[in-house]
Amino acid sequence: MDFFTYHNGELHCEEVPLSRIAQEVGTPVYVYSQRTLERHAQVFTQAFANLNAMICFAVKSNSNIHILRVLAEQGIGADIVSGGELYRALKAGIPREKILFAGVGKKADEMEYALSEDIFMFNVESMEELDLLQATAKRLNKTASVALRVNPDVDARTHPYISTGLKENKFGIPMESALESYRYAHSLSCIRVRGIHCHIGSQLTAIEPFVDAFVIIKNLVRELLSENIPIEYIDMGGGLGITYDQEKPPLPTELAAAIAPHLKEVPCRLILEPGRAIAGNTGAFLTRVLFTKDNGSRKFLIVDGAMNDLARPSLYGSFHDIRPAVVREGNTEVVDIVGPVCESGDFFAKNRPLPPCHPGDILSLMSAGAYGFTMSSNYNSRPRAAEVLVSGDRYRVIRQRETYEDLTRLEELS
Ligand code: LLP
Repeated sequence: MDFFTYHNGELHCEEVPLSRIAQEVGTPVYVYSQRTLERHAQVFTQAFANLNAMICFAVKSNSNIHILRVLAEQGIGADIVSGGELYRALKAGIPREKILFAGVGKKADEMEYALSEDIFMFNVESMEELDLLQATAKRLNKTASVALRVNPDVDARTHPYISTGLKENKFGIPMESALESYRYAHSLSCIRVRGIHCHIGSQLTAIEPFVDAFVIIKNLVRELLSENIPIEYIDMGGGLGITYDQEKPPLPTELAAAIAPHLKEVPCRLILEPGRAIAGNTGAFLTRVLFTKDNGSRKFLIVDGAMNDLARPSLYGSFHDIRPAVVREGNTEVVDIVGPVCESGDFFAKNRPLPPCHPGDILSLMSAGAYGFTMSSNYNSRPRAAEVLVSGDRYRVIRQRETYEDLTRLEELS
């Protein structure tokens, strides 16, 4: 559920008309609803409250510090994958004891930064990484708390680019070598084994793959405990899907109910790393129609947003619902909505039925709160979009639109 609704034919974010934001802040622009964000955070937290789960938001999905701050106020921690995300999480006031460091390619300087900030835990994905973490911790005279990411070889049944729990994927340690890897980790002087981690993919719309993975992990945990390798935490990663189109993903309460009986069998605390399920439907991307074009066989709406701003349709062929900020009367037309970037892959939708649209109209691409701005770039030297946070009948710009000076600021101009 979200707070983007039409009142009298005008699309609003909470009580603010989107066309007003487009007018005052300009386009393209990301607009987030604070009420939706808080609600999603609460729904997720409450669903897992009985299981005493720790919820760490996947910062990669939306890393604006104002968004992270709202989540911090809801008691949510952070799942980070880089030094940059650690910097943002700390700046947003997320407590260090709620920060988890994941990722398949951490560098020594990032480990050093995280160790010096005393974060909660590292999710380690290979023995080479473990050796580097041991050496780095030793140099700093620190102990690193660690979970090993295990790859359970479960098919998440999602887009191949965001499926991560199959043997063929680059992620985690294969099941066959998990026990041996844990024994090794446990033998290292500056490594404190505390947990196990797995993340099988993103935008999952079925519950079975989560449960299948959990059972595999649970059985491994039993084996580890019988060897006196202490596993206090089971981190099941993120991955719960959202509705972009017609999908019917499980509710957080359904996921909690499916996992609960298995969790009871092991003396571990659950950790979750949701990104999309919390942030996805809290955001919309606004873009203005520049031109309409009819080449005889197809009709195009050429808009001022592009694949550099919102990459998901180009990259994964993803569907985003597209709604006019103000609905015009008239017959629906089937159109391609495309951006100004010089690539045919620069589209937001193809063959999409829409009410009539004219140059100057504002379109809202829905469900753009996760993996929207964070995946944007400056391709074609396009300054990145502004970001706006709405609360009730007010809004504020939480990231300024980039300027041309910003584009060249780090280049030697002399
Ligand atoms: N934990 C780990 C270790 C992850 O790799 C991810 C996402 C998450 C948590 C959060 O997953 P979520 O709850 O958001 O599904 N750019 C793609 C999604 C990439 C997901 C990468 N990993 C997209 O736009 O669909």
